[in-house]
Amino acid sequence: MSASSAGAERVAVRDGLAGVTPYGAPQLEVPVRLNTNETAEPPPPGYLEAVAARITGLGLNRYPDREHHALRDALAARTSRRRAEVWAANGSNEILLQLLQAYGGPGRTALTVRPGYSMYPELARTTLTDLVEVDLDEQFQLSPARAAGAVAEHDPDLVVVSSPNNPAGTLVAHAAIRALHDGSRALVVVDEAYIEFAGSEASVAGLLDELPRLVVVRTFSKAFRLAGLRLGYLLAAPWVVDDVQRVRLPYHLDALTQVAGLVALEQEAAFLEHRAGVAAERDRVATALREHAGVEVFDSAANFLLVRTEVAGLFQRLLDHGVLVRDFSTRPRLHGCVRITIGTAAENDAMLAAIAQVLASCEPADDPDPREDLR
Ligand SMILES: Cc1ncc(COP(=O)(O)O)c(C=O)c1O
Repeated sequence: MSASSAGAERVAVRDGLAGVTPYGAPQLEVPVRLNTNETAEPPPPGYLEAVAARITGLGLNRYPDREHHALRDALAARTSRRRAEVWAANGSNEILLQLLQAYGGPGRTALTVRPGYSMYPELARTTLTDLVEVDLDEQFQLSPARAAGAVAEHDPDLVVVSSPNNPAGTLVAHAAIRALHDGSRALVVVDEAYIEFAGSEASVAGLLDELPRLVVVRTFSKAFRLAGLRLGYLLAAPWVVDDVQRVRLPYHLDALTQVAGLVALEQEAAFLEHRAGVAAERDRVATALREHAGVEVFDSAANFLLVRTEVAGLFQRLLDHGVLVRDFSTRPRLHGCVRITIGTAAENDAMLAAIAQVLASCEPADDPDPREDLR
């Protein structure tokens, strides 16, 4: 330490973080919030009461079960895996962080696709992992050939892709996951945050026995309607579960979360029954948006739609109408795009009305109103 910095009022943040703004979608109090891909419907009736009854008996003076055995057993039963193949944490973001901490780090490379979930670059940066981003094709698909070429070229230690993709909504084909795995020595992490919307066939969990370095990551934040809970989990070979324990904080998963997750699994059918309604709304919204000239809607297997228009500042214009969506328009590959979460029918209608108004106000008046002269 130089003598001149003795007594300074603040400490410089470490290298690489000085220009960084904290990551997170805007949290604004507006009438229609369609920007973070939560489920609009609250948990089923009776859920909170059941959780309240169960937490009343908890001895909170003691640390929680560090290895959350009961929750892992329930998750294992649900996914036809063994407890040793399941690990949970505070949201799938913490699972992803633990994976990057355990398998990334200085001198190691993670490979992901573009567009992709915005947290992957953040996690790579904070864990000092080199990141390689491989472009999806024009329809935001990853072909097996491109997947194989990417891992052959970059020889990553870790591959992280979301399926369905956030923000595109597209699924990654099983053949592409196989190509990523079989063509590399990497840990292949498939982030299935939205998989419950896509149907059981879409999940790659069925490949776990065949692909030893495959990790499936899931969350309670989306189809499970518990974003406020912060609970996610992974399915993988036991050695992965052992390795993430080398980096986890002791007692990282608090007792209340463990109980709330267990009760949710007991009520799984009630939690997930809204999915058909979400899919129907997604298709209705997509059809309505496609009726507008100049609006491109990408096919989505999730509870959101990626939408491209030529309208400058669409995000802000919708916000002016009280509708908050996610702005991707300045991101690479996503020129003119916003991502719209499927909300309640009323919220979706409000969003559709706002978009119609914005588009109408932007359209060139090629057929001027003849009464214009009279005004
Ligand atoms: C693809 C993907 N993965 C992971 C997450 C993180 O979810 P959580 O930390 O709430 O489980 C999100 C959240 O939007 C996501 O879109």
